[in-house]
Amino acid sequence: MPHHKEIRNDADLSVPAYLLLQGKVILLCASGGIAVFKAAGYARKLMEAGARVITVMTENARRFVSPLTFAALTGEKVHYDTFDDSDAHLIPHISLAREADLMLHLPATANILAKAANGIADDLVSTLYLAYSGPVIFCPAMNPMMYSHAATRDNIAVLRARGHEIVEADFGNTACGEKGQGRLACWEDIREAVIRTLTPQSLKGLKVLVTAGPTQEAIDPIRFISNRSSGKMGYAIAAEAARRGGEVTLVSGPCAIPAPSGTRLVNTISASDMAEAVSRELDEADIVIMSAAVADYTPVETSGQKMKKGADTLELILTKTPDILSGILERRTPEQLVVGFCAETGALEAKALEKLARKPVDLLVANDVSEPGAGFDVDTNRVLLVDRDHNLEKLPLLSKEEVAVRILNRVEELLS
Ligand code: CTP
Repeated sequence: MPHHKEIRNDADLSVPAYLLLQGKVILLCASGGIAVFKAAGYARKLMEAGARVITVMTENARRFVSPLTFAALTGEKVHYDTFDDSDAHLIPHISLAREADLMLHLPATANILAKAANGIADDLVSTLYLAYSGPVIFCPAMNPMMYSHAATRDNIAVLRARGHEIVEADFGNTACGEKGQGRLACWEDIREAVIRTLTPQSLKGLKVLVTAGPTQEAIDPIRFISNRSSGKMGYAIAAEAARRGGEVTLVSGPCAIPAPSGTRLVNTISASDMAEAVSRELDEADIVIMSAAVADYTPVETSGQKMKKGADTLELILTKTPDILSGILERRTPEQLVVGFCAETGALEAKALEKLARKPVDLLVANDVSEPGAGFDVDTNRVLLVDRDHNLEKLPLLSKEEVAVRILNRVEELLS
């Protein structure tokens, strides 16, 4: 029997809420456009993700939404006066700039983009920009003509070249009654930009190949054999790897969820499609994470026409699919790190160790899909991590987002 030690996990007793922005201070700089009303809602969402949000408003922003709205939503004093002397010891633009982990211009008007690009400091928001040396994100929102104007495009290019992130505006109907690019980006895009900016870029320069979701094995043009995998776990891993700066390729079976931002999605349907896609991508990858629930068997024959109802019973003959993970393990180089998954019902530890013996991955993520809150199509998971040296780590019931964080933390430990 292999000797293995158990890593104790103190968080085991509770199910902590996972707060991606826990402890971060975000300086939300709102300038004057109608999208300020959306910024108020987004401020709240940033707080729900654990951040402390301090709002600074331009004079025009205050024409659209009262500072009281932001104060009530964030529970913080709202700043707008460069010469505020309510606290005699503190100069607002210096003290605020010192405190913040991130400066988020939400929304950013053409005017603030121009002022920031040219270093003009004539109010608290623009002065703070010059007094701040941390990461800066601009989320522009304006009339489409103004957005596409060469002056605005040049200013955006200058800010980008300076290392700032621009969350480009969306296309659609704008409040001024025009159609085009100018609407404030959606919450998901802004959220990802914020999280990515605040996440240490520990996977920078590494290529990460993730498989996710179920496969579909066609019986005829209408029916297929599949499984209950939703892809949520694999998509969460791909999202987290991209946040850490990894270059992520997500080879996915049919899933109903959008590809995480910053990842390259390769759509596949059957096990053999997925095997081909993985084979094309494999040599490039530094890290391979096989979270897909690949069908083990596929119909020997696929009917080209819809099969008609006939006899009382029907036999389908199935044949084994290529085992993608076994193929990877035969072809891998010693530098590549490979993570496998194993979904079981009962006797998890014994089955995981048996699978590790059969499929010698660097890290095996095992879960018991018969347990409540774990497995398919739920937002939580309870997994057992078993590494190549048979160290076991039982994680408590966590959101799939946090499970992804824990898996990638272990991957990084195994890389070093
Ligand atoms: N896997 C694969 N190709 C297959 C079947 C599975 O690459 N045709 C991968 C899965 O993505 C997972 C790992 O192998 O990372 C384990 O899958 P699982 O279905 O739990 O185990 P199997 O090895 O197929 O064995 P069994 O079904 O007997 O448990």
